[in-house]
Amino acid sequence: MLKYLTAGESHGKLITGILDGFPAGVSIPKEFICGQLRRRRLALGRSPRQKSESDDIIITGGWHNGCTTGAPIGVLLRNAVRNKPKPSGVLRTCHADYGGMVKYGLEDAGLVRERASARETAARMALFSFPVFLCNELGINFSSCVYSLGGREISSPEEAEKIIAAAQAAGDTAGGSFRLEISGVPAGLGSYAQGSRRMFSALAAELAAIPAVKSVSCGVPDLAAMPGTAMAAAPGSCGGIDGGISSGDNILLHCSVKPVPGTKTAVPARDLNAGQIVSSSSSTSDITAVYAAAVIAEGAAAFVIADLILEKFGGDSFAELSGRLAQWRKEIR
Ligand SMILES: Cc1cc2nc3c(=O)[nH]c(=O)nc-3n(C[C@H](O)[C@H](O)[C@H](O)COP(=O)(O)O)c2cc1C
Repeated sequence: MLKYLTAGESHGKLITGILDGFPAGVSIPKEFICGQLRRRRLALGRSPRQKSESDDIIITGGWHNGCTTGAPIGVLLRNAVRNKPKPSGVLRTCHADYGGMVKYGLEDAGLVRERASARETAARMALFSFPVFLCNELGINFSSCVYSLGGREISSPEEAEKIIAAAQAAGDTAGGSFRLEISGVPAGLGSYAQGSRRMFSALAAELAAIPAVKSVSCGVPDLAAMPGTAMAAAPGSCGGIDGGISSGDNILLHCSVKPVPGTKTAVPARDLNAGQIVSSSSSTSDITAVYAAAVIAEGAAAFVIADLILEKFGGDSFAELSGRLAQWRKEIR
């Protein structure tokens, strides 16, 4: 039902995105979209260079006088940072550099980086703001919480700030894990009829599509270690999805995010022109991407849930969709 595409490079003029299949009649203030973009851009652990990026968004289609029209939604974000890096034959590890050059026959690793860069997720975030808003209007809410950073459990932003400051002082970066909880999801979304229609399959695919996300799980973190009887006695331990279908319980997901590979401390890289191993460092990289990834993940999950709601209930306008969902909730109560 819902589809999206993005285009653009990180130091190009702009990045764009299209969201197709979104219903008409959803009144979304532009400030809501800007707020979502700001949460991603200024998330904990991001580089000061983010302050020079802007959330200067233009909505180019599908939105009139603050309300969606049912036409494809177009977004356009200008890139404030335009100084393109020089052509490079240096292949950094844990990045798309080598695979991208081989795959597309490119001689400049910079061309790979321009598109593989997480700047693209700003366009995704802008598009995902629409399903987030729609889901909120339908009583479905998303919250994310980072609970592990740099291999340590954390319970407050202050602890996280200390870990981030220590990594920064050491010229290093950190990975982490976050929990994503979704409340208000009606029972009956998704299906076991085909593997690809399983709700967790769709959620995991969209969450794993966020750069640096390396694992996605559903249910309580120690689910695999629980005896079956304990699992059965703890409602919701399976994370609100049973047999590929939402059960009506809160949906509980966990994602891990790898450390940012660009570090201030030089690490080995392969220089194709010099034919030798050289040192590569980055002074502008984020210290951790886990907080920003958690915000993007809320949007990614909203995209999947909005899609499944549209699949089940249909409707070209918010009035049609919300009426059908309300009726369904009444019937299954
Ligand atoms: C919001 C966000 C910001 C990121 N910032 C950086 C960065 O500043 N430097 C970097 O080297 N990687 C950064 N990354 C990670 C890279 O995008 C990612 O590690 C790279 O694309 C390869 O990882 P993959 O194999 O998961 O795609 C960021 C990721 C996200 C989600």
